[in-house]
Amino acid sequence: MNQIASATAIANPNIAFIKYWGDKDPMLRIPANGSLSMNLSNLQSRTTVRYDSTLERDELILDRKVPDDLAVERVTRFLDYVRHLAGISYYARVESENNFPTGSGIASSASAFAALSLAASKAAGLQLDERSLSRLARRGSGSACRSVPAGFVEWQSGEDDDSSYAFSLAPADHWQLYDCIAIVSQEHKKTGSREGHALAETSLLQNTRVGDATRRLDLCRQAILNRDFQAFTEIVELDSNLMHAVMMTSQPRLFYWQPATLAVMRAVVDWRRNGIPVCFTIDAGPNVHVITLADHSSRVIADLVQIPGVSKVLVSRPGKAVRLSEE
Ligand code: PMV
Repeated sequence: MNQIASATAIANPNIAFIKYWGDKDPMLRIPANGSLSMNLSNLQSRTTVRYDSTLERDELILDRKVPDDLAVERVTRFLDYVRHLAGISYYARVESENNFPTGSGIASSASAFAALSLAASKAAGLQLDERSLSRLARRGSGSACRSVPAGFVEWQSGEDDDSSYAFSLAPADHWQLYDCIAIVSQEHKKTGSREGHALAETSLLQNTRVGDATRRLDLCRQAILNRDFQAFTEIVELDSNLMHAVMMTSQPRLFYWQPATLAVMRAVVDWRRNGIPVCFTIDAGPNVHVITLADHSSRVIADLVQIPGVSKVLVSRPGKAVRLSEE
């Protein structure tokens, strides 16, 4: 390898329709249950990794700033594993930028670690296939493994490092769903998902949620493959509510919603009663992902921005796989 080797990759975050919450193995991030998601076309992390023999430690620049030591340590641990795989020892300078708010429940860690996996492995001289890349991304952030394949993606929980990875269920053009994310807060969340996963087991409801996950996965997969929005709505809202019920009943409890979160949820249910195909799902944050179909998206976006407390709406369609940047 040269003294200096670099690569730049781009990844979209993803929204989970069947959620991952809780780990069987927190170190390897083997999840308690399988999950299913869609990549988000208009949101992205763009990450450059540059190994340099003159560096004395890894350096990280996130959204043009030096982040806290914990973030740097997390990236260093991840790069240590890539260096181990590639048999190299150089430190790296990592520069990453998101075009959406970091850490507010819009899965910034998913796109960040998916992009980092491709950029870091490529610059280290590794040629990983999609499955290996997904397994690598999983070690950085569980949901990052779902930002590696394209379009609609399933993460099979598996039992170990080899068997826990994500694959594409259907390409991006399979179904023109719109995800209209109602932003009610851009603050960095107080409890990150890593600590949240560790708390899942303390909820009385987690075993029930996990025990029924295969059934929900089957229903959601079928709804997507059949483009059946009604069946999709029922299972997606149930799954989101189940995860938040676990969060609210863990010890200590996690409560991510704000008043505007609930206002959006109620509006969505009202619109549906009036015949609009629309449903909601919420990750570990207060912002609400409002899913609808192409013909109704303009109306849904216009109505969302009218809700007090909604500062803006970010719109995405199904997104691509992680990719190298041309530049
Ligand atoms: O990948 P993590 O550790 O950031 O966990 C993601 C957890 C949720 O976003 C709440 C659910 C999911 O499946 O994406």
